[in-house]
Order: sequence, then structure tokens, then C-alpha cells
Amino acid sequence: MRRKLVVGNWKMNGRIAQNQALLEALKVGVKDLKHADFVVCVPYPYIAQAQSLLQGSNVAWGAQNLCANENVALTGAVSAYMLTDYGCRYVIVGHSERRIQFHETDDTAATRFDAAEKAGLTPIFCMGESADERESDWTEYVVGRQLDSIIRRFGAAVLSKAVLAYEPLWAVGTDIPATPEQAQKVHAFIRNRVARCDANIAKNVQILYGGSLNPSNAAALFAMPDIDGGLVGRSSLEVNSFVEICKAANQECVTA
Ligand code: 13P
Repeated sequence: MRRKLVVGNWKMNGRIAQNQALLEALKVGVKDLKHADFVVCVPYPYIAQAQSLLQGSNVAWGAQNLCANENVALTGAVSAYMLTDYGCRYVIVGHSERRIQFHETDDTAATRFDAAEKAGLTPIFCMGESADERESDWTEYVVGRQLDSIIRRFGAAVLSKAVLAYEPLWAVGTDIPATPEQAQKVHAFIRNRVARCDANIAKNVQILYGGSLNPSNAAALFAMPDIDGGLVGRSSLEVNSFVEICKAANQECVTA
């Protein structure tokens, strides 16, 4: 059975003092939850702080992006090995905010994905359609194209060391989450598309849902057969909300 995974994406939020309070409370809040896995992806400057506070706990830490290159003249860029130097295990790749506001493409996201895996990081690869695309019935076309940008270039085997995330753009930061049925339909589509290449990898790959996840909708989403956890934005900044979501994931694994 696939374990549930809950990942907090802090985006560009945090200050040293508030991070410390949040991470210390989070450690305590999830310490007895043994059936699911938990991660926080923090801004680059706070990775060392996350490492020192979370080491030895059942919360892993990671980054929100990476550069595919190593040791070259690229002002402002951070490489995969810089992340592993600070104990990161996960890195988000291809988030819609990166694709839209920083002009990342399917191609550059795929390159980053590959660099992450080569350094031993687990990429959390994000896919999702805009509201217009959904209205035009293009959801499967867009999500399929994004997924294929990885599979076509590297083969489906690379997904055995990755996590996938469905984050519909119309649900990110909006308070309009996908319904469990809407999300399940796309998650099943993603899993079936992977299964066309490799049934075993499709069976095992974790597919997270992201977009206005909160303590009141988490349990219903996590109960869906192809939803293996969440990628959480705003609700990961408030420790009680995030712990509630982690508990919902843990509980689903206990009862499933
Ligand atoms: P919200 O949970 O704030 O909608 O953000 C979702 C997200 O983008 C996580 O990566």
C-alpha cells in the first residue's frame, strides 16, 4: 500500500523567529504519527535552520526549486548538491508559480527534475491546468503533456524515485479546492498514463493533491483511492492547521 505524504510548501514566507516556533510545534504535533510521512519545503535561506531543528524528527525538509547546473557562473542560482549538503531529501519542481512567473517551461522543469534525481533528491513534480483550460476541457491534454515531458525524455522508470503532484491552478491560493471527485478523476488519469508505460511504477508512485487544502477538506480528499497526500501552501504556515492535515493523512493510512 502507498503511504500518504504531506508536504508543506512555505513559498516566500517565513522569518527566523516564526520558523523556529512553527517547526518546534510541528515536530511535537506529528511525533506520534507513524503511518504517514511529512515534509516542509522552505525558502533557501532557512534550509539550514530546518535542518538543525528537524534533524532526528519524523519531519523531512526540502527546497522549492533548484537549478539544473553545477558550479557555473549563474548568479542567484542554487544547485542540487547545495541542497543535499544541507540534508534536503525533497525538492519541488515545476510549480505553477515558477512556470508562470519565472517562465519555466516543460523542458526546463524536466531538466531540473533530472538534476534533482541525479543528486539523490526526490523531485515533487507539479502539474495542473488553468481555469480556462479546464473550461475548454483541456485538463487531460495539459496534465498529460506535462507528465509526458518527463516520461518521453527519461522514461517512466525515473518516476520510481519521484513524487507527482496535481495542483490545478484555479485551486492554488484561491479557497476553491477541487472536489474529491474532480481531483480523483485527474489523479486516476495520471496514474493510468504512467501505467501505459509501467504498471508497477504506476501502482507505487505517490500522487499528491495541492490547491486550497485545509483541515476541513483534507480527510475527504485523502480518502480518494488515487490521492496519496497533499502539497499544502497557506495551511502549512499555521501549525495547528498543518498538523490537522498531517493527522488526516495518518488516520487514512490507519483505517485503509
Ligand atoms: P495553497 O494551499 O495556498 O492553495 O497553495 C497550494 C500550493 O501551491 C502548494 O504548492
